Order: sequence, then structure tokens, then C-alpha cells
Amino acid sequence: MADADGRTAVEVIELVKRYPKRDVNAVDGLTFAIREGEVFGLLGPNGAGKTTTVGILTTRIEATSGRAMLAGVDVLRNPVAARARLAVVPQRSNLDRSLTPRQNLTFHAAYHGVGRGERNERAATLLKQFGLEDQADVKVDWYSGGMAQRLMIARALIHEPQVLFLDEPTTGLDPQARLFVWDRIREMRERGVTILLTTHDMDEAAALTDRVGIIDHGKLLALDSPANLIKRLSGQSVLELTVTPAPGDGADALIAALVAADGVDKAERVAAAMPAFGPGNGFPGGFPGFGGGGPGAGAARPSAVATMVPGAAGPVRLRLYLTVEPATMLAPVVSLLATRSAELTDVHIGQPSLEDVFIELTGRGLR
Ligand SMILES: Nc1ncnc2c1ncn2[C@@H]1O[C@H](COP(=O)(O)OP(=O)(O)OP(=O)(O)O)[C@@H](O)[C@H]1O
Ligand SMILES: [Mg+2]
Repeated sequence: MADADGRTAVEVIELVKRYPKRDVNAVDGLTFAIREGEVFGLLGPNGAGKTTTVGILTTRIEATSGRAMLAGVDVLRNPVAARARLAVVPQRSNLDRSLTPRQNLTFHAAYHGVGRGERNERAATLLKQFGLEDQADVKVDWYSGGMAQRLMIARALIHEPQVLFLDEPTTGLDPQARLFVWDRIREMRERGVTILLTTHDMDEAAALTDRVGIIDHGKLLALDSPANLIKRLSGQSVLELTVTPAPGDGADALIAALVAADGVDKAERVAAAMPAFGPGNGFPGGFPGFGGGGPGAGAARPSAVATMVPGAAGPVRLRLYLTVEPATMLAPVVSLLATRSAELTDVHIGQPSLEDVFIELTGRGLR
């Protein structure tokens, strides 16, 4: 149960949201928990239900059913107490354009019961930290999108929340502003703030989050650290070679020799010019270990990629599945090929990314 051991910051249990006049649930029985101090990435295609989930947890949207706990508070039953413990940077700006940036901060702090002296001081510090000092007393409609975004993050921090929700905080930001936001997120993490971050930037998720939950159609498809998700996709690391066997030698004999090498678990021929981990190739049977996928991770193996190249004398592309780091296999593989007088013309270390995981789980179709 949420917070029973003092280590769960956010928990949703069988959460459902059906918007009026819609015939499907926007959030469809979502269950997950976020640990205290964790940066948790909520990922999913457009319309997956991320903002709706954030909306329920931040008391802006009423749930249809299920439970939502935040810092030990039942969000649905006690929204006022929940609001005191959380802050949110929404996907769309909700700054008050009739106020100056400084007033946006101090009014927000006042709403959360921060005393006058304290809120003025905090506002001044945040405006300085966020590089907004010069424009602190002009109205916000003069702000660019990026500056408004910075102001919303500053506003979220002014009442020192325990849990911070950032709904696509870096969408539309220039590279400098994006890195600035990343630094602030890391800083808050250091201070022990629990963060739920939604983003479409898979590199951002991989760089910042401890764990990610990938959702689609309001349902959780996977939940793990980025590194573990990537590991489960690839099963193991991969080395791809383009090799021309010596006259009299054949691809099958080469494969047999490579499989016999320490560190090589399996080898197979693949079609030429096929990227190692391109979306939609290599894992035709679904994603091992997750809902709708194959059985256990590692049990399912890419099968459709094999045996597409006729055993001709020309170059063949081989994929080696390794039990060790690919780089450590380069020298042994090169030397093995040399002893068989095979010509090596291309080597590629397969590096699956979180984006590959995302595409594998949610498909390539536009929403
Ligand atoms: N106010 C609303 N009324 C009716 N349907 C809504 C409303 N808000 C969202 N939806 C629908 O609920 C589903 C989930 O939307 P939501 O905004 O939560 O997705 P999201 O994952 O945040 O997407 P995005 O990445 O585009 O921000 C979508 O099908 C959307 O059309
Ligand atoms: Mg959204």
C-alpha cells in the first residue's frame, strides 16, 4: 500500500478515466508505483493517456474509478492535502497573463500558504536561478514559449513540493533551455524530490529517469529502468559483420566456426543492408516478456531475419549474438576470420536504444 513503508511516493491502482461521450477509456486500469526520490518517466504515443494520468494525480481531472495515492494521501478523497504536497508543470501554459512573472510566483506561493517575506525571497531566488530577473516585472504574454516554460518550472518549485509532475517540460525548448531544465531536474532529484516526467524524447528519458512506464491506450505495457528495457529488447548484445568467405569456404562453415568461439551465443545470416535494430525488423513476433509478446525474455529469438541470403560466394552479412561486450569480440572475430582467409568488409556494433523499445511496444502507426 502506498507509503506504508515510507518509500512509495505515488501509487495508482486500477485507475480508469472515461471522458464523457467517449466510447473508450483514456486511462484503462493503470497500476504502477513510484518510489520516493525517483525520477519516473511516463512514456507513450500521442493520446496514450499520460496527461490524463497526470491530471488525475494532480487533482485537475476526476477519475472514473480506481485509486491514486500521493505522499500517503488519497488524491481522490483528499485533493486539498494532495495539492499541498505536489506541483505540476502542465503540458500547456497556464500562467496568469494578467500578472507579471514575479506575481505569478508570489501569488502561487501565497495560495500554498508561504508567508510574505519567505515568498518574496524565494521568488527573487528562483527568478535569478532561472535567468528571468530582467523580465521579472513585465507581463508574461511578452515571453517566448521557452521562457514561459522556465517560469512554470520556477512556479512549481516555490512551495517546495514533495512530488513534481512535469508534463513534456522540454517540448519546444532550444538546446540551451533543454539542458538547463535537465540540470534543474537532476538538482531536484538530488534534493530528494520525486519526479514524474512525461516526454516524447527517448534520449531525455534514458538520460534522466530511473525507471520508465510505457503506456498506450491507457494501459501499461512495460515498466523498468531504461537499461533493463533495452536489455530485454536485444536479449544480448550484437555484432554484425559483412564477410566474404574464402573460395572453398562457405557461410555455414564460417557460422559454425564463429558460434564455437567463446562469447558467441548464436550466429545467423541476415539480409544485406538491413539496419541492426531498425524499427519493425528483427523482432517480428512481438516483444519478449511483455503483454502480448512472447514468453520469457530471452526465450523468444528473432527468427525471420535468418536465412535470407543464398549461400553464394559473395559477401554475406552475419549477426552474432554475444554474451559479452561487443567490443571485446572484435579482435577474436577478426583473427578467426583471418585464419580462414575470409574478407571482412564491414563491422557494426548493434546498440538498441529506448526508442527501439518504444517503437517495438507501441508500433509505428501515427496517432
Ligand atoms: N477533455 C477531454 N475530453 C475528451 N477526451 C479527452 C479529453 N482529454 C483527453 N482526451 C482523450 O483521452 C485520450 C488520452 O489523452 P491524453 O491527453 O491523456 O494523452 P497524452 O498521452 O497526454 O497525449 P500527448 O502525447 O498527445 O500529450 C486521448 O484519446 C484524448 O483524445
Ligand atoms: Mg499529453
